Amino acid sequence: MSIEFSDEFDFENRIVDTSEIPEDNSETENPLRPKTLEDYIGQETVKENLRIFIDAAKQRGETLDHVLLYGPPGLGKTTLSAIIANELGVSVRITSGPAIEKPGDLASLLTNLNQGDVLFIDEIHRLSRAVEEILYPSMEDFAIDIITGKGQMAASYHLPLPKFTLVGATTRAGQLTAPLRDRFGVVLRLELYTTEELAQIVERSAGILKIDIEHEGAVEIASRSRGTPRIANRLLKRVRDFAQVMSNGVITKETANHALERLGIDKLGLDQNDRRMLEAIVKFYNGGPVGLETLAAAIGEEAITIEDVYEPYLLQIGFLTRTPRGRCITIEACRHLGVDFPGSKTNQQQSLFDN
Ligand code: ADE
Repeated sequence: MSIEFSDEFDFENRIVDTSEIPEDNSETENPLRPKTLEDYIGQETVKENLRIFIDAAKQRGETLDHVLLYGPPGLGKTTLSAIIANELGVSVRITSGPAIEKPGDLASLLTNLNQGDVLFIDEIHRLSRAVEEILYPSMEDFAIDIITGKGQMAASYHLPLPKFTLVGATTRAGQLTAPLRDRFGVVLRLELYTTEELAQIVERSAGILKIDIEHEGAVEIASRSRGTPRIANRLLKRVRDFAQVMSNGVITKETANHALERLGIDKLGLDQNDRRMLEAIVKFYNGGPVGLETLAAAIGEEAITIEDVYEPYLLQIGFLTRTPRGRCITIEACRHLGVDFPGSKTNQQQSLFDN
């Protein structure tokens, strides 16, 4: 079954999308990225632990152990890797799993590092097997064996590498192979941010971008940003446009409220796509359980996007539950959408059959 959506149902250009868009690395976005642990707001446990590991490595004059950062997209994994390098006083090289196509690509990255440098690999779960195979000895022994040519012309080279710190980032730690996961000495999980933390981030960003904002305006933006700084900073810029054109440029609670309504983002940060997905679970699957793939096909979205982008926040606010047989909507979600919670009779019947 597939649901017909109107043109305004736009999966491609969601303002609350957590994936990186060019604007996230633009001239205006770069100054928003904190450069030190002290300037980095939120993720308190991660910061405290990193502070210790970085200071200890520096005191011993050693390179920092390899670090794995995992958690939903948009929470600042790339920013943290640059902070780690900055705090260690070394350079960072940023790449991603899909960008390293062949073992030779990785070899060339590694041999160009300087002693102590940080190599950041985003989406590390997407490395190919062949590349992963040469990453193991690089991480463990700081050396790689390269074979060139074929048959009688084959030659093997043992290349020593500078000692480096690999910072790997992934949205799905469960997809890493055990040998790769085991080679990270430090494993840190990033959590969705609280509204207070996001409000601080919004106020900090507004200060850097010279945007006039009242505290209540920042809280209004923060509370609709789905726990994600990348979304908060994006909404801040769009709300500024409304404040500038429609009033005196100051972002107040009222201007933020008005702008976010106009952008189709509700009080909890859900946009039309979230609402339609939740409504589809009610309308077509009687509230669930519905399998991920079935749901993805029904709304014309990729399963991986539903898992990585939609779900973390909807699970966090208690609008969805994940069961072995699929996703279920909750009473709270139905109340928010203003629809009836589907026949609890059916749910009872289903649970009788389950037993
Ligand atoms: N901008 C984006 N993420 C941030 C964070 N965690 N702290 C401060 N500024 C940020």
